[in-house]
Amino acid sequence: MKILSIETSCDETSAAVVEKGKLGIKVLSNITTSSANIHATTGGIIPEKAAREQLTYIIPVIIEALLTFQKKQLGKNPQENSSEALKILETKIDAIAVTNGPGLIGSLLVGVETAKTLSFALRKPIVPIHHLLAHIAANFIGEKVIEFPLIGLVISGGHTDLLYFKSISDFKWLGGTRDDAAGEALDKIGRLLNINYPAGKEIEERAEKAVEKQSFLSKKKISFTSPLIDSPDFDFSFSGLKAEAARAVKESDLNSEETVNQICFATQKAIINVVVKKTVMAAKEYRVKTILLGGGVSANQTLKAKLDKEAQEIGAKVFSPDVEYCTDNAAMIGGQALLDYKPIEWDKVQTQPELYFSNN
Ligand code: KG4
Ligand code: ZN
Repeated sequence: MKILSIETSCDETSAAVVEKGKLGIKVLSNITTSSANIHATTGGIIPEKAAREQLTYIIPVIIEALLTFQKKQLGKNPQENSSEALKILETKIDAIAVTNGPGLIGSLLVGVETAKTLSFALRKPIVPIHHLLAHIAANFIGEKVIEFPLIGLVISGGHTDLLYFKSISDFKWLGGTRDDAAGEALDKIGRLLNINYPAGKEIEERAEKAVEKQSFLSKKKISFTSPLIDSPDFDFSFSGLKAEAARAVKESDLNSEETVNQICFATQKAIINVVVKKTVMAAKEYRVKTILLGGGVSANQTLKAKLDKEAQEIGAKVFSPDVEYCTDNAAMIGGQALLDYKPIEWDKVQTQPELYFSNN
């Protein structure tokens, strides 16, 4: 079964063609464009602008995903036009999957209404997909053997949630952030440091540089508390970290690269420490041997390395998606649809910006 999947929950417009491989999900094409550069200097996403950009890109991105699939899969060089793409969709694609939440209402509507129209016009089954579950499903892309039960950590710009999965469709929400998400904290603190949105990657790079200089320093000059690190639950809180960082910024000279790098180091460390501790705590409590990371912040190699090390101590194995499938992409949406295939009537598909986990 080949699925055309669509993701437009935030500032990425993405379309992919996927099918089941021998072990995991096979990506036949995955095209993503982003309006992040438009939001880069404003420190965060402007929802109205993001939605307008989605409208500009959605059809060209779908066309390119279909033509790329044709080129790669069938070895044919299709005519680069929209009627050829439509023919591929009509004859080679079995179903359509689309993110229906959570996300920004304007952005989500663009993908959902496009998918519904295609489903209606071409009589293709349509599968609405929970964006956060898809971040976890991204781990199944490629040839991997992943065993249940497992703990999933969704760590992105909008969410920080821990889940226990008995199977792909049988899961329990364990806890999540009470205020800002981990990625949101990185982006907001990045803004204080004049780092362009999204700031996570640059904060990681700068933190590395601060580490390199460690030998010159007796100890780190700046350090922040890891919020809720000693609470016995699986909750997180990152808004206080922003306040702490804001105080440090006020007292610091931001013209000093080393100072900025130190604040990046302290920020990243405070986030990683609590996230790793609670994820390992969940794995221990639920006696699982597999941990899956998902979401933009799981592209962070420092987080991955620390979690790997601490999980190893309890005999658990950590997986994270390839970097291109950590941040928002349509391949993971198609992946989730293949793993948990539940098509519904196109007129029943609803956009749910506040979609969360129903069992909490
Ligand atoms: O999953 P995603 O693309 O969008 C949401 O669904 O929210 O995640 C975007 C987030 C941003 O906050 C960005 O700063 C963060 O992922 N991010 C990173 C890294 N790359 C992206 N955070 C830490 N380290 C990275 N290397
Ligand atoms: Zn996401």
